[in-house]
Amino acid sequence: MKHRIPTTCALLLVCLALPLLAQPTPPAPPPAPAIPPPLTSGNFGKPLVGATTAQLAAFTAGSKDFNIRETRQTGLGPIFNDDSCLACHGAPSAGGSSGKTVTRFGHSANGVFDPLTSLDGSLLHARAIDPSLQEVVPSEANVVARRLTTPLYGAGLIEAIPDATIIANANLPKPVGVKGHVALVTDVATGESRVGRFGWKAQHATILSFSGDALNNEIGITNRLFPKAAAPNGNEVKLACFVSPTAPIEDQPDASGLSEIDRVSNYMRFLAPPPVGAPITPATLAGQKLFAFIGCASCHTPSLNTGQNAIAALANKNVQLYSDLLLHDMGALGDGIAQAAAGTTEMRTSPLWGLSARHNYLHDGRAATPAAAILAHAGEAAASQSAYTQLTPVQQQQLIAFLRSL
Ligand code: HEC
Ligand code: HEC
Repeated sequence: MKHRIPTTCALLLVCLALPLLAQPTPPAPPPAPAIPPPLTSGNFGKPLVGATTAQLAAFTAGSKDFNIRETRQTGLGPIFNDDSCLACHGAPSAGGSSGKTVTRFGHSANGVFDPLTSLDGSLLHARAIDPSLQEVVPSEANVVARRLTTPLYGAGLIEAIPDATIIANANLPKPVGVKGHVALVTDVATGESRVGRFGWKAQHATILSFSGDALNNEIGITNRLFPKAAAPNGNEVKLACFVSPTAPIEDQPDASGLSEIDRVSNYMRFLAPPPVGAPITPATLAGQKLFAFIGCASCHTPSLNTGQNAIAALANKNVQLYSDLLLHDMGALGDGIAQAAAGTTEMRTSPLWGLSARHNYLHDGRAATPAAAILAHAGEAAASQSAYTQLTPVQQQQLIAFLRSL
């Protein structure tokens, strides 16, 4: 005789099983590693850990373009600021920063900022291939600001943070007085509206568009994204003596179809983040707590995650950059220049990773120490700055020890 389950009993079993069927047991999550795998190995300026052989080759090829000293034959000028990326981005290794600054100018009146575009503002080109082309800060300018070179370590990881992640972080509750907004910019390379994240004003969203801007505006090499040579203080007649208005762009693709802006972009995209500055000690741990407690972390977000990415070495990584990549009104600390989505007093929260390798801080390099940089914080950061001044000397040292460990 067959063993049969009574009908009522079978129904009961089905009913009990239904919720289980509707929600299949999820697979056990992979065990979370206690310490995330390092994204960098050893020194500054290395390629990203996990880059494939082809990506390492692209890194190496791009580094040559990044380091090369351009000449008149390769397109330098007519007006420019230096002759290689490395000249400014060379400390403590290629891909870093330096004490070098560039100059921005404009005219501010009644709350309206004019970048003096017709006089080739707002970026000054401080050098020229011929004395007749030498630019000056025009007398019309009543705002002049210097901008320190920013480091490029981990740029690929910063680029790989999805816009939505930056926006979601921007929408989290913040202490009274702290606001911050995303820098919506038009990406020159794609024409898309994107969240800007590179530069003191978060003026570019992608490494490629920054590369095009830098190659043209810092070195004077016209390229497909920035095809027009800058005219000295806007004087097209002077420019025409050296560059024909119909001349082809200088940055032409190589046999594999890549231009210099693509190759240097690859180099920066595969550049590892800075190695940690110092080991964790009781002092750095105490400093880390203070950093959150006095509100530094409400702008200097300790980490943001990258999303899915065709490049595995950039996909789903925890990026410990210590920045929300937002624009904040910094009051008196602002540089007075409106640019892209940033108003005159708005600045991008500086990423704090790699701080130990730096010798000067803030947008114009005015601060010789991290402590001096904190004391200059104003505007939305005023409460946090004031809380810092109320720490005991030992606590202040702990906070600085933490900053130097990043
Ligand atoms: C004359 C010095 C100088 C040269 C030459 C130069 N840069 Fe820069 N770079 C700067 C300065 C200054 C900044 C910050 C500019 C700003 O935000 O206004 C910067 C910022 C950047 C950034 C943004 C990094 C970030 O997150 O803020 C990138 C990317 C960059 N440069 C790439 C390049 C590349 C590629 C080259 C060569 C084609 C180059 N730079 C040449 C001075 C220079
Ligand atoms: C309201 C947002 C905000 C708060 C709060 C804030 N910062 Fe900043 N921080 C910024 C911005 C924006 C900059 C860049 C300002 C500039 O150079 O014009 C910056 C720059 C810095 C720099 C210089 C980095 C560099 O690349 O030169 C350091 C160091 C720093 N902050 C540390 C701190 C510490 C420590 C605290 C807490 C006491 C703090 N910040 C609180 C927004 C903030």
